[in-house]
Amino acid sequence: MADISREDLDEIYAFAVELGKQAGKMLMDAAQLRINGGDETQKEKEHVQKENAVDLVTETDENVEAFIKTQIANKYPLHKFIGEESYSKGSSRDYLIDSAPTWCVDPLDGTVNYIHLFPMFCVSIAFIHKNKPLIGIIYAPFTNQFFSSCTGRGAFFNQTQRLPLVRNPVPPMSVNAPSGCIFSCEWGKDRRDTPDGNMHRKIESFVNMATELGGREGRGGMVHGVRSLGSATLDLAYVAMGAFDIWWEGGCWEWDVAAGIAILQEAGGLVTTANPPDNYATDPIEEVRLGSRLYLAIRPAGPSSTETGRE
Ligand code: IPD
Repeated sequence: MADISREDLDEIYAFAVELGKQAGKMLMDAAQLRINGGDETQKEKEHVQKENAVDLVTETDENVEAFIKTQIANKYPLHKFIGEESYSKGSSRDYLIDSAPTWCVDPLDGTVNYIHLFPMFCVSIAFIHKNKPLIGIIYAPFTNQFFSSCTGRGAFFNQTQRLPLVRNPVPPMSVNAPSGCIFSCEWGKDRRDTPDGNMHRKIESFVNMATELGGREGRGGMVHGVRSLGSATLDLAYVAMGAFDIWWEGGCWEWDVAAGIAILQEAGGLVTTANPPDNYATDPIEEVRLGSRLYLAIRPAGPSSTETGRE
């Protein structure tokens, strides 16, 4: 398909915004049913396992994905669709993000949170063309937080406030010495307990960063906090907001990150699929590649002190 015109992209954006609102409402209606209680409505607790005991799917994931897929097929029958529940079940790679116009959707990111009614869950909708996420919609209905962006049009919180909301002119120094930052990293779904495995390295790096150990041997110092929201999508939204300084995760799928990448990039933040450079404030950063499993995001730097008039 040829290039997409500005006018067409704006129309797709308007459609995606409405789709995100409707899908988010479906999530919240389903959550509300469970909050209201009753044996019948608690049945969402009866989730199904995919790859392992922490990789779960509920009826709500499937219903919302079916709704989004139908709406897109009706409006844009020639566009491709990639959705977590249509493809996954955690390991299938029989889809391809190529140069075709493609919708990449996670109907419910933070499924475990949703099951436990921890409010950090959302719908994530991205429109990708020529391998680049151009439009991102993330809606967390429990907290009523709506993030949206379209390339060239800016990134927004609740459609009115430009991202980043939190402006900090000083960029976090480097990923290896993230002193004074809020660092976010998920536990992911691969919890295998091997001595040299992912889990052990992750715990060790949390301890290094979050305690006085971080200040030793030139490691840079302690982070202000380490967070795990349970939603990679919302992590990226909070980096775009400027609330999180750095987010890192190994083990993500495209539907976890595509909308967040669109929003973060439009807000002026950085995202890469490479291992972190020593100091991303000065070193070149490799362009993000969808299809990788490892992602690192860094918040937008706010205006400099000369721009703000601050000392
Ligand atoms: C998961 C969440 C989780 C992250 C996983 C994702 P899901 O998505 O975003 O925080 O650690 O990598 O797959 O299953 O809730 O849609």
